[in-house]
Amino acid sequence: ALDRRVNDLLAQMTMEEKLGQLNQLVMVGGNDGKDANYFPNLRRGEVSSFIWSRDLALRNQFQRIVVQESRLGIPIIFGMDMIHGTRTLFPIALGLSCSFEPELFERSQAVAAREARAAGIDWVFAPMCDLARDPRWGRVVETAGEDPYLSALCNAAQVRGFQGEDPSASDRVAACLKHFVGYSAVTGGRDYNDAEVSEWTLRNMHLPIFHAGIDAGALTVMSSFNTLDGIPTVANRYALTEILRDEWGFDGFVVSDWMAVLEQVSWGYAKDAADAAARAISAGNDMDMKSDSYFPHLASEVRAGRVSLATVDEAVRRVLRVKFQVGLFERPYTEELGYRTDSRPEDLALARECVTKSAVLLKNNGILPLDTAGKKVALIGPVGEDHREILGCWTGFCSWSRETLASGLKAALPEDATLTVVKGCSINSVAGTKTLQDGRIVRDESEAPHDKDLQIEQAVQAALESDVAILALGEPKGWTGENASRMSLSLTGHQQALFDAVAATGKPVVAIIFSGRPLVLPEVWEKSAAVFYAWQPGTEAGNGLADLLVGKASPSARLSMSIPQHVGQVPIFYNHYNTGRPRSGQYRELAEPVAAYWFGYGLTYTSFEYSPVRIVPASEGKPAVAAITLTNTGERTGVEVPQMYIRQMVCHEGARPKQELRGFQRVELAPGASTEVRFELTDEVLGYVDRQGHARVDPGEYLIWIAPQAHQGSPVSFDYENERSQSYD
Ligand code: IFM
Repeated sequence: ALDRRVNDLLAQMTMEEKLGQLNQLVMVGGNDGKDANYFPNLRRGEVSSFIWSRDLALRNQFQRIVVQESRLGIPIIFGMDMIHGTRTLFPIALGLSCSFEPELFERSQAVAAREARAAGIDWVFAPMCDLARDPRWGRVVETAGEDPYLSALCNAAQVRGFQGEDPSASDRVAACLKHFVGYSAVTGGRDYNDAEVSEWTLRNMHLPIFHAGIDAGALTVMSSFNTLDGIPTVANRYALTEILRDEWGFDGFVVSDWMAVLEQVSWGYAKDAADAAARAISAGNDMDMKSDSYFPHLASEVRAGRVSLATVDEAVRRVLRVKFQVGLFERPYTEELGYRTDSRPEDLALARECVTKSAVLLKNNGILPLDTAGKKVALIGPVGEDHREILGCWTGFCSWSRETLASGLKAALPEDATLTVVKGCSINSVAGTKTLQDGRIVRDESEAPHDKDLQIEQAVQAALESDVAILALGEPKGWTGENASRMSLSLTGHQQALFDAVAATGKPVVAIIFSGRPLVLPEVWEKSAAVFYAWQPGTEAGNGLADLLVGKASPSARLSMSIPQHVGQVPIFYNHYNTGRPRSGQYRELAEPVAAYWFGYGLTYTSFEYSPVRIVPASEGKPAVAAITLTNTGERTGVEVPQMYIRQMVCHEGARPKQELRGFQRVELAPGASTEVRFELTDEVLGYVDRQGHARVDPGEYLIWIAPQAHQGSPVSFDYENERSQSYD
């Protein structure tokens, strides 16, 4: 029935109306009336979609013009970037993936979807399925980390959260898997660059994350800015058609990234806008975001025979299908609910839970949870009382709550404790440094050198008068996200000097790091009594972190991205290969070729013991199982995340990494309690993707181990008895 409705409509469309359906423009907003310039285009059916619509009344006005005044009345689909929440902001994806609880993504994105739809957004540009390997790249903030297995689960969960069972429901939206593909592998971590990704790495590291999102039913995909094998991805037929459509059967539509169709000209791949449009649509990119290349040029490209009419028709069909699927034909307008779209108490409770499950406890000499009765607590640092820096990037629709770490702590401390708050210094870098915040260029001139010294002095004084100094430090939120690559992974501004001065007082320091990427902070790791890596936790940052600090909640997060020892090590990730000379190939300056903290690492307020791994052989059609006994050997209830890693010892298709995560569980145990943790050793768990894109598993020897983090644990050998290699997809 859906295809019939789509084809009926298509049959009535002129070429201009068809190209209109492939045209996405930007809603400017504001009171200057500029958006009224679009009215004639809307009446002629020349616009399919708007991005960045923030004005609900204007959104409905646009829709009314299209539905009531254009010839065919095909509604507009309004898209926007909601990456980690809409009104209610949850921890950034990189932080939330540290929960190792994909279901949290489903639940939080369901909230984001409800709030987005209420704000007139039918389509969100998320989840971000790129694999994070280089922390210099600012967009690692939006990813679910460096591991394809964990990322795939987190991103599939996001698709379910956004779209639900029925994306046409009034509290659901269409999801968009982005950026297809290779965007995170940009050279040197420099945004928008070229990407060198081998077929083997593409197939086994990058693509599985997207494939999981497609299997979860994502309705749209965004092609990426980068080149892949020399071809801008927006015009890369291998990626957009052969893999996405032919291999995976995707029948939604592909939208380009911002201006990316036209940027083929800058790359030197297309000669002009017409050529760029022809190449992109022929490769499988259905909608042009903002570059105004499709609408003016594709009709003549079709007439000249450089683009087939069938290609245009198919792209239009895909767009119309999604518009039907999200219910726009039945419900084109969004009711103006006003205050009723604000966070509900249950949304805030979920956001708070997410904060407690995302902050990774990197170090604890026993000072945490804090014993605060009758104590003097100093909260020092630029993030302590700031309500914006805790939120992360893409905050276009958030409710800008005034909650801060200071307000959260104040509420959590007992009456006989005191809290002194001192900023110490600005989070921003040296005066005049160019920063981008939420799409706007901001120059920070705020900090004159003499102020800096004065403030640090006050901070030292506050620390000296306290029992414990909590240091809230990090990088500005505008330094993460798009167009926010960094070459140093240090604290910005004068924060390192602030830390050094406070640490030198000898008072115990609890450092809380707010960042959208792993930072390299050796002095903080060494000199602090305890460290939480809090990421950018969102609306409920203050309450959630206070819960952890005072022990109302127990830390359970594990790093989803390794933290390097030195910036010269990047990209460093746990699932690397076993070279012929693993030690001598390392850097001269490093005694051990290791990260400061590897993927999977994170402490709790208790301790756990892992028994050796037992392998239960396959029997009666049931797969073999790897099992351990896990025991809480500490004095508090806690959550442990046992992680199963595998290694295939010989693989003739291509060498496999030294270790690959293929299972994990969150297990809560009371003090002294034990439980058996089991993982099945199935084809999917042991297998890989071959160069033709088939899921495949080989017989032979595997190492299997279950450990609290990567690069730990004792592997046992497992002989997988299949007679020959087999494809199982
Ligand atoms: O969705 C984003 C994309 O991730 C980066 N460029 C702009 C798009 C629209 O805002």
